Amino acid sequence: MNVPDIIIAIDGYSSTGKSSFAKQIAKEFSFLYLDSGALYRAVTLFAMRSGMVSDGKTIDTARLSEALGTLDIHFEHGEGGSHTFIGDECVDVPIRSIEVSSVVSPVAVLPEVREYVDRILVEYGRAGRVVMDGRDIGTTVFPDADIKIFMVADDKVRAERRLKEMKAAGQDADFETVIENLKSRDYIDSHRETSPLRQADDAVVLDNTHMTPEDQMEWIKDLIRSRYGD
Ligand code: DC
Repeated sequence: MNVPDIIIAIDGYSSTGKSSFAKQIAKEFSFLYLDSGALYRAVTLFAMRSGMVSDGKTIDTARLSEALGTLDIHFEHGEGGSHTFIGDECVDVPIRSIEVSSVVSPVAVLPEVREYVDRILVEYGRAGRVVMDGRDIGTTVFPDADIKIFMVADDKVRAERRLKEMKAAGQDADFETVIENLKSRDYIDSHRETSPLRQADDAVVLDNTHMTPEDQMEWIKDLIRSRYGD
């Protein structure tokens, strides 16, 4: 299928399968995949390791803002897909820990952090032919994105998927902790002042509670065909 050099923005609640879907799209249509959540997670990991987070939620905003000036967080795209780096360290695994997951939303609330991440995303997105996932891609980062998708799924299904993903990565967690973390992140993400999670007016909703990855691929192909032809 012939897909033009467009920008596809995928937003939605935590663990609705945004990144799996975005990766699937990138592979199928040879697009560049950008995981904006991974950048927020990397900033969070950096802040935690640098002692800028106390009692699990209080962030030393002044020190973090200053550090962002020289902080090198970037993606490297290779055979195995997209990887997130802090300097020359690949942080794909530590940024997915439950510890980072429980601090990332308060970090992502900070306007300085949002500006830092947006700058990186805009730079990568300049050439087009990218698929990005996050919370505010279609509303703030790329308000002119060609296709905007807003993903939703049942809470329990989301928690089960996340738990499976964590177990596969060798991380320990229980269902209750995971579902509570999802709900609390959704709440913070939707209620923050700067770029809250919300559906863009021109976004198409995808509820994938009962969909397989193959169903999702058919769904996006139909959407692209309806807009750009075959
Ligand atoms: O997609 P994720 O779960 O890896 O995202 C981690 C956190 O980062 C999420 O709880 C909220 C924040 N985030 C955001 O505020 N804006 C984005 N565009 C992407 C993620």
